Amino acid sequence: MDLVVGARTFAGTADAYDAFMGRYSRPLALQFADFAGVAAGQRVLDVGCGPGALTGELVRRLGAGQVAACDPSPPFVATCRDRYPGVDVRAGAAEQLPFDDGSFDVALSQLVLHFVTDPTAAGIGMSRAVRPGGTVASCVWSFDEEMEMLRAFWDAAVSLDHDAPEERRVMRFGRPGEISQWLSEASLVDITETALTVTSTYAGFDELWDGFLAGIGPAGSYCMGLSPEHRETLRVAMHQRLGEPVGSITLSAGALAARGVRH
Ligand SMILES: C[S@@+](CC[C@H](N)C(=O)[O-])C[C@H]1O[C@@H](n2cnc3c(N)ncnc32)[C@H](O)[C@@H]1O
Repeated sequence: MDLVVGARTFAGTADAYDAFMGRYSRPLALQFADFAGVAAGQRVLDVGCGPGALTGELVRRLGAGQVAACDPSPPFVATCRDRYPGVDVRAGAAEQLPFDDGSFDVALSQLVLHFVTDPTAAGIGMSRAVRPGGTVASCVWSFDEEMEMLRAFWDAAVSLDHDAPEERRVMRFGRPGEISQWLSEASLVDITETALTVTSTYAGFDELWDGFLAGIGPAGSYCMGLSPEHRETLRVAMHQRLGEPVGSITLSAGALAARGVRH
């Protein structure tokens, strides 16, 4: 099993990630931590922490000594360590967590399941990481219109190239019920699913488009694999999909989240 396959498109800088996706994942972390029931006194693991959008929220709630995190992307591990001194940040993937079984009250993964090579191993590993009675929770962006940035990008891409690797075709977990099913297969009980929504405001369409040029994630990677001419055609098509906005633009981003309990 190639544990780093899902991390290949996340080797960029943390600043570029923040401008592209962190602008959504930071506010999402507040809602996701609430949904997972994160509260003072708990010890919590952030799986696939990236540069630390959720890690930072956990530190705010629990203190750095109560938080651990891991990610297979070396630059993200380094950044998360720098940003949150005292957090136990380790290199490692969800399929083979570098922590002892039963070490945590809660194990979370935010926007990670899409990229996990072996979701079954990841589910079992996250379940084992928590004590009996502990919580495992995960969230990903929805594949529907609620994640406006990615939906507009992939709709535009597919309108120009039927073979574009749009997320709905090549990834799992962005449809209602899929995360719950994954938790159930890992033998978690009392499973609850919900939808979470955040927004982000851009100065203009150019700021939005520039995010894709950092090559981050499947969309950025696809965008930067195009010739300059095709990329420009895609830029125009995406601008049209969004109604040709002029000036400031606010997009919403919908995620699906589910949690379960280890019995
Ligand atoms: C969209 S980012 C989310 C980062 C962070 N959780 C956030 O909310 O901003 C996806 C992250 O998943 C990580 N990743 C990819 N494959 C993984 C795996 N098999 N196990 C754990 N994390 C993985 C990537 O390196 C990247 O940091």
